[in-house]
Amino acid sequence: MRNLFAYPSQVITVNTNGKNYKRGTEMSYIEALTDVSIITEDGIVKEFIKNSEVNSQKFDEVIDCTNKIILPGLVECHTHTVFAGNRSNEFRQKISGTSYEEIAKQGGGINATVQAVRNSSFEELLQISKPRIDYFIAQGITTLEIKSGYGLSYYDEIKLLQVIKRLNEIYPIDIIPTFLGAHTFPPEYKNDHSEYISVVINEIIPYIAQNNLAVFCDAFCEETAFSAKEVEKIFDEAKKHGLKLKLHTDQFNRIGGVETALKMNAVSVDHLEVADINIVERLSNSETTAVLLPGVSFFLNYGYAPARDLIDNNAVVALATDYNPGSSNIADLNLIMSLAAIKMKMKVEETISAVTINAANALSLSDKIGSIEPGKNADFSVFDTSDYSDLVYNVAKNLNVMTIKNGKLIFRRN
Ligand code: NIG
Ligand code: FE
Repeated sequence: MRNLFAYPSQVITVNTNGKNYKRGTEMSYIEALTDVSIITEDGIVKEFIKNSEVNSQKFDEVIDCTNKIILPGLVECHTHTVFAGNRSNEFRQKISGTSYEEIAKQGGGINATVQAVRNSSFEELLQISKPRIDYFIAQGITTLEIKSGYGLSYYDEIKLLQVIKRLNEIYPIDIIPTFLGAHTFPPEYKNDHSEYISVVINEIIPYIAQNNLAVFCDAFCEETAFSAKEVEKIFDEAKKHGLKLKLHTDQFNRIGGVETALKMNAVSVDHLEVADINIVERLSNSETTAVLLPGVSFFLNYGYAPARDLIDNNAVVALATDYNPGSSNIADLNLIMSLAAIKMKMKVEETISAVTINAANALSLSDKIGSIEPGKNADFSVFDTSDYSDLVYNVAKNLNVMTIKNGKLIFRRN
């Protein structure tokens, strides 16, 4: 299959010259090509061709991109998309002044969703999740990470990961599964943390590793959840089973999560709302991607992660929605880019690098996706504008009109 993506006003390649991530000032260079079309062959980017030379060649399919901008397919690298129920009652409490942590201590929060997930079947969870996946695809997202973490038992964590696996089979995008059994302690282990950790280590991790149900193991390092020591214990076992590591950390309190994650070569550290200069310096020149989630700061109305300091100190910064029912009921990556610019002072170009190549890096996939370069997968998002600033300037407005996965059109806006 030889396809042509013809006559876009611009192609934003996010080229890294083979480096496959951008840190610090590199994040501002996204490379805008004009007067070129893209040739793909069997799902792979083959080459750029001058528009004046297009007519001399034959193609199986020509996709007209006149007056549109082509970007790499967007990568959503941190979500909790598969959940049941909703927490609008907690939302009301939060508006009236009760904090997220307070609600968690009262038995609500993550455990409220755990209850709803445990009461839902595989089929129910699958059906609930489908429109959410469609919503991501319509934004130009071609790779989507989804975490478990609302089951918190052998049976229910595996059920969630099987739903994620099924979604990956049904949908043309790539869905990357993450095991988040260490999200919080479920009620039945409230007073026996070590017993829950041994269930995670001795029962759940071996099963999911053996059955390829997860690529990553994640945890929540926080005063109301897991200590750095407990995370290290779980990560040790996850690593032995071939899982890569990610960590929710430094969201409300700094309790050593970043230090542990870096020591164990985690692929990403996510949240970082309370990261201080010491943490910023640790992430400076690190291979570990800092995944920032400004939707959480907005939704819970507290501080934002130090994006400017991280970028100015040469960190690799990615952005994600953290879509979940409690701390970020936001599934719009476009809104996240605008929040990153307005609230965290990221440049337009930096937000684009953060949802493409650096988000791909946060999933260890940046050798295949995240930029438009010959040899990489032909995953594109196509936007109806002539100025890429519009992606950030237009707040919560989806300008994506076509989503392309492996060289094939998988979504077109009517
Ligand atoms: O990424 N911080 C921990 N976990 C999720 C929130 C999950 C929830 O509240 O349901 C997060 O913010
Ligand atoms: Fe999260």
